[in-house]
Amino acid sequence: MKKLIMTLITSLVPAIAIAQTPVASISSPEKNMRVDVYLNAQGEPSYQLAYKGKPLVVDSRLGFILKDQASLTTGFELVSAETGKFDETWEQPWGEERFIRNHYNQLRIALREANGTKRKLDVLFRIYDHGLGFRYEFPAQDQLSKIDILRELTEFNFVGDHQAWWTPGQAGNQYEYLYQQTPISKMGLVHTPVTLKTAEGTFVALHEAALHNYSTMNVSGAANGKISATLVPVSKNQPTAVTLQAPAATPWRTLQVEDTATALITNYLTLNLNEPNKLGDVSWIKPAKYVGIWWELHLEKTSWKSGPTHGATTANTKKYIDFAAKHNFAGVLVEGWNKGWDGEWWLPGGGNAFNFYTPTPDFDVEELSRYAKQKGVYIIGHHETGAAIENYESQLDDAFNFLAKYGMKAVKTGYVETGEELVNGLYHHGQFYVNHAQRVIDIAAKHKIAVVAHETVKDTGERRTYPNIISREVARGQEYDAWSADGGNPPNHTAIIPFTRMLSGPMDFTPGAFELTLPSRPKNQVNTTLAKQLALYVVIYSPVQMASDLPEHYDAHPDAFRFIKDVAVDWETTKPLAGEIGEYIAIARKARNSANWFVGALTNEKSRAIDIKFDFLDAGKKYTARIYKDGATASFKTNPGSYEIEERVVSKGDQVSVKMAPGGGAAISLIAQ
Ligand code: NOJ
Repeated sequence: MKKLIMTLITSLVPAIAIAQTPVASISSPEKNMRVDVYLNAQGEPSYQLAYKGKPLVVDSRLGFILKDQASLTTGFELVSAETGKFDETWEQPWGEERFIRNHYNQLRIALREANGTKRKLDVLFRIYDHGLGFRYEFPAQDQLSKIDILRELTEFNFVGDHQAWWTPGQAGNQYEYLYQQTPISKMGLVHTPVTLKTAEGTFVALHEAALHNYSTMNVSGAANGKISATLVPVSKNQPTAVTLQAPAATPWRTLQVEDTATALITNYLTLNLNEPNKLGDVSWIKPAKYVGIWWELHLEKTSWKSGPTHGATTANTKKYIDFAAKHNFAGVLVEGWNKGWDGEWWLPGGGNAFNFYTPTPDFDVEELSRYAKQKGVYIIGHHETGAAIENYESQLDDAFNFLAKYGMKAVKTGYVETGEELVNGLYHHGQFYVNHAQRVIDIAAKHKIAVVAHETVKDTGERRTYPNIISREVARGQEYDAWSADGGNPPNHTAIIPFTRMLSGPMDFTPGAFELTLPSRPKNQVNTTLAKQLALYVVIYSPVQMASDLPEHYDAHPDAFRFIKDVAVDWETTKPLAGEIGEYIAIARKARNSANWFVGALTNEKSRAIDIKFDFLDAGKKYTARIYKDGATASFKTNPGSYEIEERVVSKGDQVSVKMAPGGGAAISLIAQ
């Protein structure tokens, strides 16, 4: 069902409203949420949001400080308030949920300055039963054509100093931090999504949607639950954040609101606020599992650098192709295959040495693409840029022609750098980078290539519009366990990110470590049990999932490896079963195009038992449940490799109880009989 009905309810209301009387309001379809818009005596716009009849966000200002002209903050009058309704169910070409309902009521507030040049600014609100999205629109107008935004003044002032889970913004290492939990007043400048819990137990995710031609919004916390937007400026020396040409719109500012933390996982508001697919037929984009020359590099068994330790040799790549073909993996990622790795590439300027179409002499791309094709596998290209964007952009055509010529259906991009700045001195999460990321998505789409982006800007749901941006990193992935000086990701990391980072979109976390003690990295280990590694394939959603460990480590555990081979990567539906932020989580997902279900459950450093009720299974069917669980003495610290596999026949309504070890988990495949 698709319906958009617009009604003009007000026109030319002068700016005389008192602060307590909204100039316009709109409720969600089931009246669960309500937004009120105000114009105070100074003509200053603000909004308020209520959930289930109680104020959630109050007295929150809207507006901009501009460069070289007066701010867009006060002196407004209301020209019109137009409402509308929309209800549509759309299908994701791939995803964690096949059909998504987009059901909202809309309010467009058209503002105009009462005096002077009478500049115009619209604010568009979309209110859902479990969330709000709003954005600013600059209508075409002679008096405001080029817009240089210094600051966006949007506020999200919560009624209490709620608990917040966050990573720091503009702190030197992009998004790769462990999450912290503090009251809003103590969080400082943070990335979104930031997840909040009120004293009454309401959960809110504050984020943005459809980040295009704009800079990233970080948010700052202050006393009494006040939160305000902070746009990433162009650079340290250029305070302008965004330059637009009217007509233009900002990204959506989003608040997802639920009664449980797990419900946030299936709240698809940010996807709904993105435009529908602009690529047309995207049947060429295929969710897939992959292996590759990657973990052995992080373990320092081989190197990205050329020479005797080089990992990306023809012989080694063939070994991975053979393994992929034998076990039915679609892709083989190869890192270090090209020119540019021999210097200090991660230092500013080092990335300028990268060439994206010249392989090293010991990587015979002609032979390997032929060999891969013959085995029914494709090579996944790798473009580590070292954040030297100009160098990369100057080669984009050649780089993507090269990928296409050699049948590489996906590319992993990377923007490693030290600090928040790109090699050209501009901020990594500013408007320039956002537009660069789009240029890569566009050229990749032209060549029918999917992009998995590391160290890129956060996901705001662009995959709805450009389904070839298939996954991203944008948080601490499993690689930290190989080399991080702090000992790697603690067990609670993967119990936090499903409720925080993962709300923004798929993550290329690269699970699948079977050798957990890392002899070649004696100061580190993978801080999970083996069963928890399996659970990650279900818990951490990505349509491309790596089996990251070395072939020989999988060969040593063929029974456990079976789960990675069986697990789906494209889902009909997702059902979070239970969970609390930072403690534990259990999720069930049904595979697309089959009747099989998969369950992943994991815990933080505490051991706990969890009951998995098979209420989600299809009635009247029998399933072979293969339960991969921690061994009786398993523990991520002392005995991570201990696991047991149990098989039984189950049907809807049955349940199993699994004990998860400290840092442990469980994975269940439910294969329809
Ligand atoms: C960081 C990425 O996250 C990792 O996956 C990659 O191997 C290295 N950069 C080198 O590009």
